[in-house]
Amino acid sequence: MKYHHKILKIHKEITVGEFIINKHGVFYRDLRDEVEERILVCSPLLVTGITRNKDGNDWGKLLVFADPEGHEKQYHMASSKGQNVVISDLVHRGLVLSSHSRSRHLLAQYLRSTPSDKMMLSSSMPGWVKNSFVLPYGSFGPDEVVYSGDPNTGFGTQGNWKANVGKLCSGNSRLVFAASVAFAAPLMRVVGIEGGGFHLKGDSSKGKTTALQVAASVCGKVATSPGEDSYLLNWKSTANSFEEVAQSHNDCLMVIDEIGQADPKTVGDICYMLANGQGKARMGHGKRSWRVMFITSGEISLAEPMAKAGEKAMIGQEVRLLEIATDCTENGLFENIHSSKTAAEFSNRLKAATANHFGTPLQRFLEHLASNTDAVETKCRAYMDSFLKAVLPQNATGVVPRAALRFALVAAAGELATKLKLTGWKKGEAFRAAKKCFASWMEHRKTFDPVVMAVDRVQRFILENTAKFEIVGGDVRLNGSKFGYQKKDRFLILPNVFRDFVCAGADPESVADALEHAGFLNTSGPNRKKKQERIQGQLGYFYSVPSSIMKAE
Ligand SMILES: Nc1ncnc2c1ncn2[C@@H]1O[C@H](COP(=O)(O)OP(=O)(O)OP(=O)(O)O)[C@@H](O)[C@H]1O
Ligand SMILES: [Mg+2]
Repeated sequence: MKYHHKILKIHKEITVGEFIINKHGVFYRDLRDEVEERILVCSPLLVTGITRNKDGNDWGKLLVFADPEGHEKQYHMASSKGQNVVISDLVHRGLVLSSHSRSRHLLAQYLRSTPSDKMMLSSSMPGWVKNSFVLPYGSFGPDEVVYSGDPNTGFGTQGNWKANVGKLCSGNSRLVFAASVAFAAPLMRVVGIEGGGFHLKGDSSKGKTTALQVAASVCGKVATSPGEDSYLLNWKSTANSFEEVAQSHNDCLMVIDEIGQADPKTVGDICYMLANGQGKARMGHGKRSWRVMFITSGEISLAEPMAKAGEKAMIGQEVRLLEIATDCTENGLFENIHSSKTAAEFSNRLKAATANHFGTPLQRFLEHLASNTDAVETKCRAYMDSFLKAVLPQNATGVVPRAALRFALVAAAGELATKLKLTGWKKGEAFRAAKKCFASWMEHRKTFDPVVMAVDRVQRFILENTAKFEIVGGDVRLNGSKFGYQKKDRFLILPNVFRDFVCAGADPESVADALEHAGFLNTSGPNRKKKQERIQGQLGYFYSVPSSIMKAE
C-alpha cells in the first residue's frame, strides 16, 4: 500500500507563489511598502497532486497536512466543492487555522492557486481502477489512486485479526464462510462473476449477527456504540440510500443485518438491484452502478416478509440472495466454541475481538492481489473448478450452477487468503465450509425452485402409486384403476392423471416445463409436451418421464 506523502518531514522552506511552507505552517508573504511581513495562515499543508477520475472528470487536488497530535492526514479537495465547505472539512480533521483576520481568505487563495505537476487518478468509489485497487485509506497496485468518495464507510485497520478473530472461526463453517465472502468480493472482477448475496437464516440469539460482525471485521470497523462509523450496516438504516451505500462498497462486501427490518415491499427488488449493480435512472444524472457481494442475516427467509406484503419472491430474487441455515448444532451457528464455557460466551468473545481487531486481512489480501492479479486469477480458477467438480450434481441445470459458482468463488477466496497466511485456518477449511453452506442452500432450494418441486412431485407420485402403472410386456401388477404404463426406461402418465393427481392444483404446463427443463420429460418436439406412444397396438398421448427421474436428487 502507498502512503502518499510525508508532510512531517519538511526540512526546508518551500515557496509557492506568495506563500511559504515550512514545518511551522503555511505563511503568506505580505509585501506592503516593499517590507515583507509573514502572515501565518494555518498549520503545515501541502498540495501534492492534481486529481481526475479515469473518465477525465471530477477534478480536484490532493492535500496533506498534520493534525495537532502530529498525525499526517490526506484530504481530497474536489474542485467543485465550495471553499467554505473545504475549509470546514479541513478544520474538522485537525488543520489549525491561525487567528489572523485574513486566514480563511488566504487559505482559500493558497488552495486555489497552488499548482502541482503531479497528475493522479482519483475514484469516488472503492474498488478496481484500471489495475489498481483503491480503498478510502490507500491504494494497491501499479497506479497510485486517490479516493475521493465518502470517507465514513468504516474501512480501516487495527490490531491482529488472524490471532484474535480468524483463529476462533476455525472449525465453524458459517464463520469461515462469512469471512471468506469478504475476500471473494474483490475477486468478482478478476474472474468475471456477477454480484450477489448470501443470507444467514435462523433463530434468535444463535450467532447470526456475530457471524456478520466477523465478515465485516475482515474489511473494517464494527461500531460498538451509536454514531460511530461502521462497516456493519442494517436494512433499516440503509433503506433510503441503498444505491449510494452500494457504490461506497464497490468491489467489496456489504454486510447488512436484520432482514426482518427491511421494507417487505421492496426487499426483493433491492436484492435484485444490489446484485445487478445498477440503480434507477435519476433526473439529470446517469444511473449509479457498482459491483458488490453482500451478506445478510435474519430470523426469516426473503420470501416471508414479501409474502406478508402480498409479493411472491421470484426465483431470480432467490438466486441473488442464497439462503444458508444457521441451526447447525445445539450451539446454534457454532460448531466449535474453542474452550469457551458456553456458546453465548463464545459469541461475546468474538464480538469483543471484532471490535478491536479488523481490516488487516483485506488490506494484505489486496496488496497481494493487485500486484499479482494474473497469478491469483489462475489459482482462483483452479480452486473454483475443483469446488464445482466436488459439489455440482451431474446434469445440474437452472439456478444450481449459477449459485454453485458464487459458492465456488467464496471457497477459492478463503483458500487463497489462507495460503497468504491471513486467516489462521487449516488448508482446505474454507473449501469445506463453502461445501457445507452449499449443501444447506441446496436444501433451501427445495422450497422455491419449480424444477426441484416438479421433479419431487413426480417422484413422490410414482413411488406412492407404482402399482397403478401397468408394466408393458411384463408382469401384471395393476392394482385399481390405471394411472399409466411403465416401459423399460420410462413411465407414461395419462394426461388426465398428470393434470388431476400429479399436479393437483398446480399448473400442468408449468410443471411440464420444469420437468423438461430438468431433462425429465420426453417430448415430441418444441411446445409438444405430450408424446405419442404405442401401447398394445394402440396409439395414445402421454406425459413420458424417463425412469432415471427416480434417482434424481
Ligand atoms: N449459539 C448461541 N447460543 C446461545 N447464545 C448465543 C449464541 N449466539 C449468540 N448468543 C447470545 O446471543 C447474543 C446475541 O448474539 P447474536 O447477535 O449473534 O445473535 P443473533 O443470532 O443475531 O440474534 P437475533 O436474531 O436476535 O439478532 C450474544 O451476545 C450471546 O449472548
Ligand atoms: Mg442479530
